[in-house]
Amino acid sequence: MRRTLIAGNWKMNGSFSANRSLLSEIKAGLPANLECDVLVCPPAPYLAQCAELLGGTAVMWGAQDVSVHAQGAFTGEMSAAMLQDCACKYVIVGHSERRAYHAESSELVAQKARQLLGVGVKPIVCVGETLEQREGGLTNQVVAEQLNAVLDQLDVLEGLVLAYEPVWAIGTGKTATPAMAQEVHGFLRQLVAGRDVAAAEKLQILYGGSMKPDNARELLAMPDIDGGLIGGAALKSQDFLAIIAAS
Ligand code: PGA
Repeated sequence: MRRTLIAGNWKMNGSFSANRSLLSEIKAGLPANLECDVLVCPPAPYLAQCAELLGGTAVMWGAQDVSVHAQGAFTGEMSAAMLQDCACKYVIVGHSERRAYHAESSELVAQKARQLLGVGVKPIVCVGETLEQREGGLTNQVVAEQLNAVLDQLDVLEGLVLAYEPVWAIGTGKTATPAMAQEVHGFLRQLVAGRDVAAAEKLQILYGGSMKPDNARELLAMPDIDGGLIGGAALKSQDFLAIIAAS
């Protein structure tokens, strides 16, 4: 049985005071018998604040990106070891915003995932098609290329987490229907099973793209949807808590 992971991707939002309010509301609203894993991914300057406010609670914290390099003269970069030092359990890699605005290739994303697994941090590797690609019937081809690039570079799949995030559904209010999402999630799991059946069975595949309290339950009920990567709704404690309650 795979555990559900509800992960908040705060993107470039927040401040010390706003984070303090948001996190205290989330902590206060968590059910006593929490049955899923909960993660928040703030901008990196706030990781230490998360460690301070969330240490000893059920809420984990993680980052939104990592360097492909281990250390050295790479101004502005953060290594996997540094994020592990900040007690990040997970780090998002290959988000479509980074692929689009920073020209990240699938090979680069794969190197980032490899760096993270090397220090025991779980990469949440994002894959997903644009609207044009979906309408052109290219969804499976696109996500397969994105995933295979990562699988090709990993010797061990233990610790890998995937997020299917159709680009056309991110921040748009348009969600993939549960059936549409399930189809891609099932396809991704099959691709992993082609390399390692046991790893595929254990692999958590999150859905992301306008997940909200009113669609979370249906999406999370699908057999191959093991959680959510939530943007906008993760910035509102009530919405985030409602998604946790729906899991
Ligand atoms: P959204 O973002 O929930 O605001 O659509 C999801 C994401 O980009 O991870």
